[in-house]
Amino acid sequence: MNKTVLVSGGAGFIGSHVTVELSQKGYEVIIADNMSNCDETNYRGVCAILGRELPFIRMDFCDRKAVEELFSTHRIDAVIHFAAFKAVGESVEEPLKYYSNNLESFINVLGAARAHGSGVLFSSSATVYGEPDELPVTEKSPRQSATSPYGNTKQMCEDLLRDSVKAYKGLKGIALRYFNPIGAHPSALIGELPRGVPNNLVPFITQTAIGKRECLSIFGDDYPTPDGTCQRDYIDIVDLAKAHVAAVDRILEGRMKEDYEIFNVGTGRPVSVMELVKAFEKVNNLKLNYRIAPRRAGDVTAIWADPSLAEKELGWKAERSVEQTLAAAWAWEKHLAGKD
Ligand code: WQD
Repeated sequence: MNKTVLVSGGAGFIGSHVTVELSQKGYEVIIADNMSNCDETNYRGVCAILGRELPFIRMDFCDRKAVEELFSTHRIDAVIHFAAFKAVGESVEEPLKYYSNNLESFINVLGAARAHGSGVLFSSSATVYGEPDELPVTEKSPRQSATSPYGNTKQMCEDLLRDSVKAYKGLKGIALRYFNPIGAHPSALIGELPRGVPNNLVPFITQTAIGKRECLSIFGDDYPTPDGTCQRDYIDIVDLAKAHVAAVDRILEGRMKEDYEIFNVGTGRPVSVMELVKAFEKVNNLKLNYRIAPRRAGDVTAIWADPSLAEKELGWKAERSVEQTLAAAWAWEKHLAGKD
């Protein structure tokens, strides 16, 4: 009997890509989402890629009764928790919305996983490292105090998982700390769907290239980096999704060495904003309209992963080049504009 994985927030950017990889690995997947931050585009794309309808439950994970009902009526071997608000800037303006949504939903998931013996995989973020003192960051690098309520909810949810695993016998969990997820599925049927003006770099680049945005603002070129622009570890969304499958395999095959484990999910390669822009222009053979703008408050100068622990313990490493990822991101934007 195939194992079943619940993907909370499964209609979103990362959740939909993880659903495809889990299904293609042979897992049964249940997608649950309250659709507060996405439409059905990615869900329909997942079904098109897989050639079949997947079980989809529209629900809010802050509704404890609904979460308990879901776990009582389905056998859930593992749950991957994506359902959360994730806009850094919005979290500064609306902290209570972020704390109540992101914490309550995860507390409900943990309670149900404990009661039903499900493994837990939490979607964490490199944002927990803040402005790192040393690079690359390893899982032992200290967490810095969060620079936004959003980042703080990631740290608090890691602690919720750590403390729950310690207290409740049998509960096991992994936190994956993503760096910067970018790109889209090679089919161009699923990808990033930012609502309104994109906060993140790559969707702003592709929307500028397609003509939806006038000009990309590069937030600062006076940082202490080789070309003056910030450096990040951009991880291809399909590589990231495969890391989730490797982590679920580890939990369900009983290969965890501790009841709570953390893994960095990155490429280990720093790429600057300007390098990314130039790579996008080159691989897609176009000229991007951009200008140098003032720094954005809260940006860290540079952060990239030491991904060796995930390679050693999960048997996973990033395989796609940034050029491949940027070509897929552009194909997705053209698909959205009906230009593919
Ligand atoms: C990357 C670089 C910007 C937009 C955030 C969250 C993190 C995760 C990923 C959710 C920075 C520059 C950006 C633009 C620019 N989100 N930039 N012009 O801030 O590293 O990480 O998204 O989990 O938790 O913190 O990603 O893509 O916003 O920025 O110059 O229009 O691109 O200054 O240097 P970030 P980003």
